[in-house]
Amino acid sequence: MAEIRTIGVVGLGAMGGGIAQLALEAGYDVVGREVTAELGERAAGRIAHFLARKVEKGQLEPDARDAAVGRLSLTTELEDLAGADLVIEAIMEELAAKLELFAALDGIVRPETILATNTSALSVTEIAAATTRPERVVGMHFFNPAPLMPLVEIVRAELSDDQAVEAAFAVGERMGKHPVRCHDTPGFVVNRVLIPLLNDCIKVLDEARVSPEDLDAAMKHGAGWPMGPCTLVDLVGIDVHVHAAEALYEKLREPRMAPPPRLVAMRNAGLLGRKSGRGFYRYDD
Ligand code: 3HC
Repeated sequence: MAEIRTIGVVGLGAMGGGIAQLALEAGYDVVGREVTAELGERAAGRIAHFLARKVEKGQLEPDARDAAVGRLSLTTELEDLAGADLVIEAIMEELAAKLELFAALDGIVRPETILATNTSALSVTEIAAATTRPERVVGMHFFNPAPLMPLVEIVRAELSDDQAVEAAFAVGERMGKHPVRCHDTPGFVVNRVLIPLLNDCIKVLDEARVSPEDLDAAMKHGAGWPMGPCTLVDLVGIDVHVHAAEALYEKLREPRMAPPPRLVAMRNAGLLGRKSGRGFYRYDD
């Protein structure tokens, strides 16, 4: 199997942009695909901003920053991913959209190219079934914010071959992450635990009649969390959390997995957290 040199990233939102940044910093050539040129440019701007901050803080040499930025090419055409050795998908969490994308990619990239999904809670095995190469499909589940969170779950689907799993693991390591191998079960490792835990936190808001600020303070100062649960759900995105919770509930039928009605109402009202400017908190930037 040829070495992985070029990584395609499909979807350059918060997660895909962060993954593209990691790949660039690790020395890969990156082809980033967004649906419009404007969205691609916005992602490239965010990456340039964070790399510039790293230079200012002495964490990155200016030459390395310039080289990293120079390895990024943007496109709106999936066909431009034809030369990729690995493609990481980070589009919206909708199974139908992912199936369509994987079927299309399957017809574009080389037969040995690995296709990875960053899905939070959908089945990698189901996504792999949209392709003629399920043995080359794995999960690479990064955590938000991807450049800062050390974990990446390397998910083995039903038909993934060892070589694809190990190649994805090696890419995670080269990105400076702490990769963990797991099988394709609902929520994999972290979300299987974190989603019901965050659901419980949101229920406690109403049960204990505590404010979001006090709940966040309680979990930070009483349980050592780096950020409180309301801040975290705002960061992840209330729509993303509700979707992941619904997907886990659908598969496991455990009541604790189901999204609390308060979060569903917030999602329906467009209070999506940081990305919409308002969730449990207000954001001006
Ligand atoms: N690239 C580089 N730097 C970045 C960055 C990026 N993309 N994004 C932010 N930074 C920088 C910030 O700009 C800041 O630097 P600056 O202020 O000097 O410019 C620096 O990183 C650190 O910022 P903070 O001071 O906020 O850092 P903290 O020490 O407070 O840590 C944290 C931030 C790592 C996010 C920490 O609060 C934490 O661990 N929070 C928990 C997050 C978590 O649990 N995530 C998992 C969510 S679940 C999930 O993702 C699964 C999904 O499937 C739903």
